[in-house]
Amino acid sequence: MSPFHRLLHLYNEHVLPHVIVRACSTPEIARERAQVVPAAEGRVLEIGIGAGHNLDHYRPGQVQRIWGLDPSPTLLAWAQERLPRIRIPVELLEGSAEAIPLDDASVDTVVTTFTLCSVPGVQGALAEMRRVLRPGGQVLFLEHGAAPEPWIRRLQDRLNPAWQIVAGGCHLNRPMDRLFREAGFRLAELRAEYGLGPRVVGFLYKGKARPR
Ligand SMILES: C[S@@+](CC[C@H](N)C(=O)[O-])C[C@H]1O[C@@H](n2cnc3c(N)ncnc32)[C@H](O)[C@@H]1O
Repeated sequence: MSPFHRLLHLYNEHVLPHVIVRACSTPEIARERAQVVPAAEGRVLEIGIGAGHNLDHYRPGQVQRIWGLDPSPTLLAWAQERLPRIRIPVELLEGSAEAIPLDDASVDTVVTTFTLCSVPGVQGALAEMRRVLRPGGQVLFLEHGAAPEPWIRRLQDRLNPAWQIVAGGCHLNRPMDRLFREAGFRLAELRAEYGLGPRVVGFLYKGKARPR
């Protein structure tokens, strides 16, 4: 391993999880979560559950159980600490959205918040989300991505390679609405607007997708 890659590995293991938790726990983001996550119902799969910041937004009467999937053992351990006060059965699964360890049509709602930007094989993950959803199921999403203005979009494209290195593989410029449509979903609800921080990271896609 080169010294650069060793340093990157140490950064990803020991620094990045703290950066993610800090970035994901602001009151502004909590307000965005509150607009999306409470619509979850039935058997819920949250991909990229991270440290579990959405757990407080699920409605106990409405959600039967939650599977929380994430590849990071560190983030999953922090999510685990939240579970004693959550009144819904939660099972945390270490793994990737590109290979969801659940049966076909076994989920009523998939939730993804600030995760599809970071999944390396995003098309594979969307195909897997579609596979595990029951017919008529829903994906609730809150993601940042490609901005509508060409000059910001150009900036996103230019900053993307460096951003990916410091931000755990996060892409600034993914066109989330197009990715859902290309993966065989229809967008039953979509609000695409600036929501958080600088424009280059702050264009949000939020809503509900259903398998076509
Ligand atoms: C910015 S964090 C967001 C965490 C959480 N969704 C939230 O809203 O607080 C991105 C998350 O995506 C997860 N992630 C990265 N690659 C992934 C993959 N291939 N499959 C599932 N999750 C992944 C990371 O471990 C991390 O928890």
